[in-house]
Amino acid sequence: MDHFQHIDGALHAEGVPLADIADTVGTPAYVYSTATLTRHYRVLAEALDAQAPLAGRALIAFAVKANSNLSVLATLGRLGAGADTVSEGEIRRALAAGIPADRIIFSGVGKTDAELTFALQTGVRQINVESGPELDRLERVAEATGIRPDIAIRVNPGVGAGGHAKITTGGGGDKFGVPVEEALDLYARAARAGHVRPVGLACHIGSQILDLGPLRDAFAVLADMTRRLRADGHTVRVLDLGGGLGVPYEPGLTPPDPATYAAMVGEAMAGLDVDTLFEPGRLLVANAGVLLARVIHVNVRPDGRRFLVLDAAMNDLMRPALYDAFHPLVPVRDAAGVKGPYDVVGPVCETGDTFARARTLPELLAGDLVVFKGAGAYGASMASEYNSRPLVPEVLVSGDRFAVVRPRPDYDTLLGRESRAPWLAD
Ligand code: LLP
Repeated sequence: MDHFQHIDGALHAEGVPLADIADTVGTPAYVYSTATLTRHYRVLAEALDAQAPLAGRALIAFAVKANSNLSVLATLGRLGAGADTVSEGEIRRALAAGIPADRIIFSGVGKTDAELTFALQTGVRQINVESGPELDRLERVAEATGIRPDIAIRVNPGVGAGGHAKITTGGGGDKFGVPVEEALDLYARAARAGHVRPVGLACHIGSQILDLGPLRDAFAVLADMTRRLRADGHTVRVLDLGGGLGVPYEPGLTPPDPATYAAMVGEAMAGLDVDTLFEPGRLLVANAGVLLARVIHVNVRPDGRRFLVLDAAMNDLMRPALYDAFHPLVPVRDAAGVKGPYDVVGPVCETGDTFARARTLPELLAGDLVVFKGAGAYGASMASEYNSRPLVPEVLVSGDRFAVVRPRPDYDTLLGRESRAPWLAD
């Protein structure tokens, strides 16, 4: 459920008409709903807490890559969320949003020595080690700084899942994590050397997962490894179960609800006596955000094909171009009737800048406002300034208030970040 609803024929974000935001901020713009963020966090937190093996010992570490806006992070942080981060920049964002270091997890396949040093000095809760070479480097950095971090070994359980090949991470051929036997060896090696403290195992098998089966299989692998490590005398007190739960982008998609997911996790963790970590991204934020855009014009071809040209483009919302992703398009003014199919495109000079083909919509005219729904995850955080289009702004709504939480840069700012080389100066 989200809080973007038509009230008296006009689409609102909570109590704020989206047309008011367009008047103040211009378009395109991302708009997020605090009530939806809060609801999604609470539904998951309560579902986890209702399972005895998880109650009071589960941390939801929001995957910052899904939406890294400081106000979004601060909203979730105040509810109790931690942060799953994959770069120094993301750690800095989480800290700047008020999320304490002891709720920050540092993941990622290619952390540099400088980033590892920063994470150690910051005192993050846990570093998820993704390979043998990374463990070697982390041990050297830990020895040099004299700081002994808690680590988890990220396991590649050989079970991949997800909404698109480009976002599947747990399969044998994917670059993430280490296979089971190697992970057991790394755990023992790390414990022996003593520069880092192995506390657990981690996995994340993919994103936009709609079926609990692969997740259940992956968690069974972690449970089995936990028993084997303990039988060898190792301490295993944390299992990081990653993120990945899908969301209903389109009618007919029925991802498992958080309660069903939590029940499955509860069963998988029963008797293990571990703290659990969760790294949801999309689940918390996708349906808490829309991309608000305006129709520039409608271009009707002689063959009748209609192009709906918006002022939002692939640089603002990459997902359709990159993953053929579906995002519902909804007119801001409740328009009745069906005009028929439109090809929905942006102004960027590539055919890839197509949001949808043959989408059935009510009649839309130049100047009309529309939103792409489900755009709160991997929308603004993946945006760029391709075609020298200023970075899309972000707005946070709470009740009948709204605030611009990332302004649209003006052209002086955009150009001011660069300079001419001295030999080109005059
Ligand atoms: N943990 C790790 C280690 C991850 O790599 C990811 C996402 C997550 C957690 C959060 O996954 P989620 O709960 O959001 O599924 N840009 C793509 C999604 C890429 C996901 C990358 N990793 C998209 O727009 O669909």
